[in-house]
Amino acid sequence: MKPFIISFTMSTAKSDFKRVTTNSVQEMKRSGEKISMLTSYDFTLARIVDKAGIDVILVGDSASNVMAGHETTLPITLDQMIYHASSVVRAVERALVVVDLPFGSYQGNSKEALNSAIKIMKESGAHAVKLEGGIEVITSVERILTAGIPVMGHLGLTPQSIYKFGTYTVRAKEEAEAEKLLSDARELERAGCFALVLEKIPAHLAKRVAESLSIPVIGIGAGADVDGQVLVLHDMLGMTHEFNPRFLRRYLNLYEDILGAVESYVTDVKTLDFPNQKEQY
Ligand code: KIV
Repeated sequence: MKPFIISFTMSTAKSDFKRVTTNSVQEMKRSGEKISMLTSYDFTLARIVDKAGIDVILVGDSASNVMAGHETTLPITLDQMIYHASSVVRAVERALVVVDLPFGSYQGNSKEALNSAIKIMKESGAHAVKLEGGIEVITSVERILTAGIPVMGHLGLTPQSIYKFGTYTVRAKEEAEAEKLLSDARELERAGCFALVLEKIPAHLAKRVAESLSIPVIGIGAGADVDGQVLVLHDMLGMTHEFNPRFLRRYLNLYEDILGAVESYVTDVKTLDFPNQKEQY
């Protein structure tokens, strides 16, 4: 019988083709390998992102902004998150797929939180959920974990609380808020979260959190001294050109590229250049 050989090309990710699990991201922290994470919301882009060797795909509630054009993440529903998540899951062969619990689906009622998490897992086939907040949501975290569903925490700038904070500026610059964040991070770890996202906080604080937790800490605008990095895919691809935070590195300028391509298409159609003889039957 011929040996079965899987061949593939991937980025510089050290891991082999084995599926990424919550255990493997924790092992990455222990071994010092940085964790790469990006958002995805649809089949086509998730397939490319997975092929490129990303470790974790987040089906973020930023879909509310990026895909639906809402000003905040608040309007997106559980069913809409499941629609995006199931499209991503169908595309992915290797990455760990984490789905945001949307606003209103887990706060204040741990039974509802559990039901929301179960619905996401059952209907999308995702591998874990993420939720925002610390001690206020700890009973929801604990209850979801009783069903064997892995939970990722999210502290710092938590966009679902935008109306409480009023702005999207850097969080936890003051000592009191920094201490609360550190204590919330410890609570989330104690409750059983497998990883934590820290968004837009001072780099020295993120370093302190990452050093004091044994679970991976993945930053967005939280500096280099954490266990991994996450960006919104459409931002790093340069599709959302009006959003320019300091932490964002753009790897492409797709806004300009797509604009140019569509302008060329419009011109080609108008001038009868498209389709030509070879582009028809
Ligand atoms: O929804 C999202 O995209 C997120 C990331 C910014 C971490 O939560």
